[in-house]
Order: sequence, then C-alpha cells, then structure tokens
Amino acid sequence: MLLKNVIFLGPPGSGKGTHAEKVSQSFGIPRLSTGDMLREQIKANTKLGMEAKKFMDAGQLVPDEIILGMVDQRLQEPDCANGCIFDGFPRTEPQAAALAVIVAIGCVVNMHIADEAIVERMQGRRVCPVCGHTSHLSWMKNEACDRCNQTMVIRADDMPETVLNRLRVYHAQTKPLIDYYTKQGVLHTVDADGDVMEVAKRVYEALV
Ligand code: AP5
Repeated sequence: MLLKNVIFLGPPGSGKGTHAEKVSQSFGIPRLSTGDMLREQIKANTKLGMEAKKFMDAGQLVPDEIILGMVDQRLQEPDCANGCIFDGFPRTEPQAAALAVIVAIGCVVNMHIADEAIVERMQGRRVCPVCGHTSHLSWMKNEACDRCNQTMVIRADDMPETVLNRLRVYHAQTKPLIDYYTKQGVLHTVDADGDVMEVAKRVYEALV
C-alpha cells in the first residue's frame, strides 16, 4: 500500500499521537506533530516557543500564522518529499486551506471519542521529559520511560481545568474540519475508545 499525506484529526487525548506514531513507523513516513514541534521550541527557549507557551498553557490554539510558518519550514525538509502523517494539524479552517495549497490529502482519520472518556484518560497520561515518548499509567510497569529510562511526568497542559478548556476549543474551532473533509470525500471516522491495539486495528482498516 502506498500512503501519501494522512491527517489525524480529533480532540485532545483521542490518541492521535499514539496512532500517528505507529502508522509513521509502519510505513516509514515522517510524523509531523505541531504540538511536539511547539514543545521543542519551548524547550529550546526560542522566541517562537515563548510566544506559543502563553497559548498552550491556557489551553488555547497558537495563532495560525505561527503554526503555518513552522509547518511550511518543516515541509521543505527532504524526508517530507514522499508524504507526511500530520498529527494535530490542521486545527482550523485557515490552516486546512493553507495546507491544501501545498499538498494533496489522501486520508483524514477522525479519532472519535466522548469528552467524558477523554477527561478520565488524560489523568493517566505520562510523557518523557527527555525523549517526548508518551505512555499511560494503565499499562506502564513503573514510572520510567521504556525508551530512555527517565522518570515520566504529567504534561503541563494535562491539568483537568486546562483539558476542559482544550476540549471547548476543539469543539469550537477544530470540529468544523469534520464537515470540511467530509465534503472532500477523504474523512474516515474511527471509534477511538477501547483497547489501544483494537483501536490500532481500526486505524489500519481506515487507511486501506
Ligand atoms: P498537541 O500536543 O497536538 O495536543 P492535542 O491535540 O491536544 O492532543 P494530545 O497530544 O493531548 O492527545 P493525542 O490525541 O495525541 O492523544 P495521545 O496519543 O497522547 O497540542 C498541544 C497544544 O499545542 C494545543 O493545545 C495548542 O495550544 C498547540 N497546538 C498544537 N498544534 C496546533 C495547531 N495545529 N494549531 C494551533 N495550536 C496548536 O493519547 C492520550 C493518552 O491516552 C496517552 O497517555 C496514551 O497513551 C493514551 N491512549 C491512547 N490511546 C488509548 C486507548 N485506546 N486506550 C487508552 N488509552 C489510550
């Protein structure tokens, strides 16, 4: 199967990153996560990172022009020549319209899950402060990252109040993209609740 450009769309905590990473590894196509790119900028203390942090800490979207500049630059890199797995981008109609000018989208995987399940799931998410690997308390054997052995931590924007705000922002600003991509005939909705391997199977079925 030849995968080109795939978008993972869905609310915070729906499993976009988890499944985009699996698909990226299986097909050898880079995963482009705007959330990870922003966190790298914050870690490196750049001007862009400091500007983005104000929005991220409040659970708001980072302005389109910052995101589009960053994505545009990343897409110039040679590893993106054969397609990308977009994780958490686009998130607004202006972002989707800008992306449509640059690349053709083959498939949008819409990760569907109820808000109540997300709030519960997010309490158990742990991330590695060094390599960025994401895991969950329900299947972690201990608190160490299984890739680099560092102690996993709670992500800064996973505090319950911020999660609720991110969900409100998703419903107001990102959910309209479901209609946008349905009209283009590329949207595949996947039930993102349940066992992670079962969800992975549904994602692969959506891609073929
Ligand atoms: P970003 O990092 O993209 O966060 P998000 O979209 O809110 O999504 P998450 O990373 O929280 O969740 P996910 O869907 O990837 O789920 P995961 O796989 O981790 O963005 C952060 C912030 O950056 C935004 O709020 C915004 O401010 C800014 N930003 C980023 N992109 C932007 C853009 N394009 N425009 C504007 N602003 C932007 O899974 C969650 C947890 O559940 C994990 O612990 C995982 O192990 C676990 N899990 C996964 N699948 C299952 C399963 N089936 N069952 C049980 N647990 C599971």
